[in-house]
Amino acid sequence: MTLDIEARPSSLPSAASASLPVRLRRLRRTPALRALVRETRIQPSMLVAPLFVQPGVQQRDPIGSMPGQARLSPDLAADEAARLAGLGVGGVILFGLPESKDPLGSEASADDGIVQDAFRRIRALELPLVTIADTCLCEYTDHGHCGPLAPDGSVDNDAALVRLAETAVTQARAGADIVAPSAMIDGQVGAIRAALDRAGFGQTPIMAYASKHASAFYGPFREAADSAPAFGDRRGYQMDPANGREALREMELDVAEGADVLLVKPALPGLDLIAAARQRFDLPIAAYQVSGEFAMIAAASERGWLDGRRAMTEAVTAMVRAGAGIVITYAAADLAAWLREER
Ligand code: PBG
Repeated sequence: MTLDIEARPSSLPSAASASLPVRLRRLRRTPALRALVRETRIQPSMLVAPLFVQPGVQQRDPIGSMPGQARLSPDLAADEAARLAGLGVGGVILFGLPESKDPLGSEASADDGIVQDAFRRIRALELPLVTIADTCLCEYTDHGHCGPLAPDGSVDNDAALVRLAETAVTQARAGADIVAPSAMIDGQVGAIRAALDRAGFGQTPIMAYASKHASAFYGPFREAADSAPAFGDRRGYQMDPANGREALREMELDVAEGADVLLVKPALPGLDLIAAARQRFDLPIAAYQVSGEFAMIAAASERGWLDGRRAMTEAVTAMVRAGAGIVITYAAADLAAWLREER
């Protein structure tokens, strides 16, 4: 069948056509109509909640710059994972605050390390959610950088690859369903894939922090995870926020190295990249609404400057509208509870 474009009545009449005025407001008249035509819906199962795990037992320390968030001992982290699963949240991503730090970040890859302990406890509960390991070294090194240092003070790329691969294997062994390398070290996805395969974890997927900018929005996280660099900054390995084409090269390389999921971070400042990634790659795309994005909304809400619930829902919906199928957010539990209320 061919369409005769000329003869076909236009679905978009010009504004000048008085007989058929455009009335987009027809579909906005009632809550039920709006719900019927809504293009983007968020669901608890697409949300991932970050958890900060610290040593101790029954230890819960609130994080000042992130209202409602806390550092938890492994037993309480397991309790929290169970609560999140009960809310229908899709996953948790674990960050560790080790007992001690050293130049190599040794505890990151210790089988009895802090996140490994938490993963084992969560696995024992057999919860219907996905456990994800943030695979990085900055929380574990005494200098706070994401890998061992070369004599000139920069991160030694290939030494970092070895440490990241060792770390990922211990995380998978402890029960992490997915490992998520976030160090922005060249070749990290390939090195981790090879190490996982060699160690018998060929079925463990890699969620690559493929597009990670050197962002000011990570501020509260560095307080939460005690991972601020002791000197310098991360601009030597994380990307310049001004660069988008480079972000697509990073994603391309991670796909070639075997990434199973591509992550864009930060999320709202990276909406263009989420949309571009969705168009270009047929992998699941994840967005990370980072600590500063969360803290901005939480702080303004505490001051009564905006409606926190609506602002948070709008921000996460925008990430999904742009193309993310997975959203890591500190508001995961709140969003899941709100979605349940609305049903
Ligand atoms: C580890 C890591 C960071 C975040 C996630 N993984 C810190 C950083 O890169 O400085 C930030 C997450 C957030 O701000 O919520 N490299």
